[in-house]
Amino acid sequence: MLTQIRPHPLEIIPDGEADMIKRVMEMQLEIMKVQDPTKRGQHPKQQALLRGTFEIADAVPDAMRVGVFAQTKTFDALFRLSTGPNPKDSDPNPHGFAIKLLDVPGSPTGTQDFIFLDQPTFFISNLADYVAFFESMVTNRTEAYYKAHPHDFGLNQTFNVVISSHLERQYWSEVPFAMGQGAARFTLIPDPDNISNLEPATTPDGLRDALEDYFVTQRRSAKFLFGAQAYLDEATTPIEDAKSVWPTPFETIATLTLPAQAFSSPEQFEFCENLSFNPWHCTPEHQPLGGIQRCRKRVYEESSQLRHRLRKTDVHEPTKTDYDRLGAFLK
Ligand code: HEM
Repeated sequence: MLTQIRPHPLEIIPDGEADMIKRVMEMQLEIMKVQDPTKRGQHPKQQALLRGTFEIADAVPDAMRVGVFAQTKTFDALFRLSTGPNPKDSDPNPHGFAIKLLDVPGSPTGTQDFIFLDQPTFFISNLADYVAFFESMVTNRTEAYYKAHPHDFGLNQTFNVVISSHLERQYWSEVPFAMGQGAARFTLIPDPDNISNLEPATTPDGLRDALEDYFVTQRRSAKFLFGAQAYLDEATTPIEDAKSVWPTPFETIATLTLPAQAFSSPEQFEFCENLSFNPWHCTPEHQPLGGIQRCRKRVYEESSQLRHRLRKTDVHEPTKTDYDRLGAFLK
């Protein structure tokens, strides 16, 4: 069972939100049916499922010492690296980085997910605009939507880029999460040692090949810093505007380590297809905040359930036993 939506003091919930969420969910399922519904409704291309650790820093600001950041400890974690709708890595795409912490006390699913993209903010402010955008998509009228929302068009363009490797990008949660009674947005910053000076991908599977070369052939490990920027007040760091840029500084509160490892067996690929990342896999202290996040709960669940039904597999959250079964790290 996912963490339930509970009123949070920083949220402002508009009238009619339940209907808007239902509408997004229906349109998402429509879109999936004309694509490949055995794949995720968005970010369908699995580039890699990697294993590693998520180590909480010794020095976490007092206001952020909540939930999984309450104590200095190390979680085992799974990382799904993905790309958006374009199947070829040599075509422009958004790039995803999803984290799943395992054996998390206090989380109804036993896990804590953090989901990132490689742009600092979302390209749409709120759920009402998202409904209008999705409606224009399913009726092939996105041009009309973007004409009325030129800023969203500009941001959407910046999402679609060709990159050389997932390991060299910075990522952002784009939308906020509770930190107890406060809130934060998150970022992932690549370690300078992750850099390989590769050219942007020129082949359909160039990004996967870059990861194979890095983790398997060169047997290198990768690191990312996990930063959090604090909510200040509604005017400076709005919760309900996913397009807003928060000016507060990022503080490093954890480190991700992804050791050298093989990740391309058919069993590993299948295991990842059957995983589900959802920001609502969380401890109640990290409840996702804002209309876009409240919408994601139901939409991600429905997308995952449809996929699992068609793949004839159960929806279940992984444990340390699953993590260990995925194999040993490379020396
Ligand atoms: C209302 C807004 C949004 C909708 C309707 C939506 C929809 C979806 C759906 C249906 C999935 C597939 C879930 C599954 O089948 O397991 C997905 C995955 C994903 N979404 Fe969103 N999303 C939204 C907002 C966002 C935002 C703000 C981000 C920014 C971080 C984001 C990043 C991702 C990523 C990286 C994945 C892939 C997760 C994985 O690796 O499994 N999405 N989204």
